Amino acid sequence: MSSIALSTSGSIPAIGLGTWPMDDAEAARVVPQAIEIGYRLVDTAYAYGNETGVGRGIAASGIPRDELFVTTKFNKEWHSVDGVRETTEASLERLGLEQLDLLLVHWPNPSLDRYVAAWEGCIAVRDAGLVRHIGVSNFLPEHIERIVAATGVLPELDQLQINPRWTQPAARAFNTEHGVVTQAWRPLGMAGDLLELPLVTGLAQKYDATPAQLLIAWCLALGLSTTPKSSDPARQAQNLAAGAIVLDPADVDALCALDGTEPDVTSPLTFGH
Ligand SMILES: NC(=O)c1ccc[n+]([C@@H]2O[C@H](COP(=O)([O-])OP(=O)(O)OC[C@H]3O[C@@H](n4cnc5c(N)ncnc54)[C@H](OP(=O)(O)O)[C@@H]3O)[C@@H](O)[C@H]2O)c1
Repeated sequence: MSSIALSTSGSIPAIGLGTWPMDDAEAARVVPQAIEIGYRLVDTAYAYGNETGVGRGIAASGIPRDELFVTTKFNKEWHSVDGVRETTEASLERLGLEQLDLLLVHWPNPSLDRYVAAWEGCIAVRDAGLVRHIGVSNFLPEHIERIVAATGVLPELDQLQINPRWTQPAARAFNTEHGVVTQAWRPLGMAGDLLELPLVTGLAQKYDATPAQLLIAWCLALGLSTTPKSSDPARQAQNLAAGAIVLDPADVDALCALDGTEPDVTSPLTFGH
């Protein structure tokens, strides 16, 4: 399993398991199955309502805790120093864990304008040892610049909506320049028609891969971590195996040329929870 170094210490697996929109029961069934297949990164969030199920799944897997990397995220209700402490303790309780591997501010919610306080709260829970690593999600360069100006602390990771139809070049370049790992959410376009685009299916054939594998390999070629979601064991195995596929730079560029054609972009300037 390949991994990507984090700026402070250690690393994050390049490919993880997304868990939205699993409910508790589904997560409790699917997470141990994915761990058995070889996943070591599990991505959840308060907003998914499945942290209890994810925690049950982790416990049922029997895997040593230090072999697993668990990410969760919190909503805007907790965008304060005390709030982050409260939501982190509640997430740990639901997950049945003593420490999170990664805590993310889920959305900046710029209209609320509390994300600097949220970031101060993340720093405090990291300093208190409740989490090992802290980061953000759906933060654009302007949001990261502001939290760094206020605190002097860079996020270790930024989880962004990225696939070949929405490649976020400015955010990726900013993150790379500052040593922030970029992680792609919805890498498959949520099983929409991205998997059926002739460019995607044609290149998949060239690499003897499935379209989903091609899209995951494209993320890795850009140096991204990614968290495709599947509840199906065969697809989980397929997605994890994409880690072995190395794309020619020209094919990476051809996929990047689709940028701007994503039909379902969620803007962090107007959306957030
Ligand atoms: N930070 C954020 O704001 C944010 C927002 C959205 C999502 N996320 C995270 O990112 C994860 C991934 O995003 P997503 O779930 O929206 O989209 P996604 O991973 O791009 O797509 C998931 C869909 O693709 C299907 N699928 C998975 N593997 C497949 C394969 N090999 N072949 C064909 N279809 C396949 C899944 O169905 P089956 O389950 O039936 O296989 C599911 O319908 C989420 O689960 C969540 O953890 C974060």
